[in-house]
Amino acid sequence: MASFATIGRSIDDLGFCVITRFFLKPKQTRAAATGGFFNLEIVKVTSALMKTYNRTPIAFERGEGVRLFTKDNDAYIDFGAGIAVSSLGHGHPTLVNALKDQAEKLWHTSNLYQIPGGETLATRLVEATFADVVFFTNSGAEAVEACIKAIRKYHSSKGAPEKYRVITFEGAFHGRTLATIAAGGKAQYLDGFGPKVDGFDQVPLGDIEAVKAAITDETAGILIEPIQGEGGIRAVSNAFLKDLRQLCDDHGLIFALDEVQSGVGRTGKLFAHEWADVKPDMMAVAKGIGGGFPMGAFLSTNDAASGMVAGVHGTTFGGNPLAMAVGNGVLDVILADGFLEQVRQRGINLKQKLARLADEHSDIIEEVRGVGLFMGIKCKVPNSDVVNAFIDEKLLTVPAGENVVRIIPPLIVSDEELVEAVLKMDRACKKLANKNKLTNEEAK
Ligand SMILES: Cc1ncc(COP(=O)(O)O)c(C=O)c1O
Repeated sequence: MASFATIGRSIDDLGFCVITRFFLKPKQTRAAATGGFFNLEIVKVTSALMKTYNRTPIAFERGEGVRLFTKDNDAYIDFGAGIAVSSLGHGHPTLVNALKDQAEKLWHTSNLYQIPGGETLATRLVEATFADVVFFTNSGAEAVEACIKAIRKYHSSKGAPEKYRVITFEGAFHGRTLATIAAGGKAQYLDGFGPKVDGFDQVPLGDIEAVKAAITDETAGILIEPIQGEGGIRAVSNAFLKDLRQLCDDHGLIFALDEVQSGVGRTGKLFAHEWADVKPDMMAVAKGIGGGFPMGAFLSTNDAASGMVAGVHGTTFGGNPLAMAVGNGVLDVILADGFLEQVRQRGINLKQKLARLADEHSDIIEEVRGVGLFMGIKCKVPNSDVVNAFIDEKLLTVPAGENVVRIIPPLIVSDEELVEAVLKMDRACKKLANKNKLTNEEAK
């Protein structure tokens, strides 16, 4: 099995390595682990895929629970869950059977006809949340995009089309469409894509005075992730979410949540905002709701969705029977008695273990943050070094903004698997500390 090294590495806030990666032959692994790049035969990975990602040169062939296996049967523990997507791990029998059953019956009809699985899933989401209605999408960005359109449409359908601006927050990530990069506001993602879509006013996260100051006669709503994922597992206080709700009520604004990453059980509640005991008017959901099948959902109250009438918005694939079968399967498991309680328990266990790890490796880890199984470790060394040291121990995690490594295992993780993963982290941190010590000594 080939190991690898990365050269010229940097990390963007979305959490993907912006690097050139090279394969190293197996016998050279030791040299790479100690940081030596001498006499190494380097084979550049080539691909016909567009170069929007620099992919780690590992390919997985199958998955089982929290584990991923390469063609050579090398097992990795997956504590990245495909960026918070594989909520029930890999090959969960409920999802496999749901997809197989549906695949044998019917794949696609379009939204020109009724889709019973979609009716069921929408009803279940409505019963479990603040929402009255659901629009299914294929991805998170499309769910947020639908949400932004619906915020604007709400006001225009009530005779106030001048209200179209949405307040968003620094560090946010809402997707990669033209509107969602404008909502996220990150210069790096906007650069080179022409004029930024107008209508977003960004303020510092957690600063209620800045939010008040940003409200004008053109403001239509506020859009926020209750816990920023790509931004670095940055949570706002419950009080802040409550204050936003109040501001929206006072000014007739739509209060919209992006729970694409924080939702569907990740924090130990079905949705993260439930911890704050607030109700939004709209919410974007994706990732975990499909457990690995690409799907998303935009949820709304009846009133907030009053502008979303026949013909104003649409999708060819959204709500497709295959996706609906899997989405219902995910809810079968996540809404079963005791499941979310178990996620909360595992979350507490993980947090305690990570806190101990941070104490033991204070030279590597600055802080542990997060809720439930939506955890992050803020690093003192480059987070890419930590992610790669974990990979060397066959543990997968995901980098994020603020030099954080996201620890986001499948929600079905066991206590034993948490122990195993944290032992890998411990070994990785020790090796990293030794490597850094050696490098520092060499530099003297
Ligand atoms: C909070 C949030 N919103 C939106 C998105 C975009 O989702 P997608 O990549 O499925 O378009 C993401 C993706 O990471 C996200 O974390």
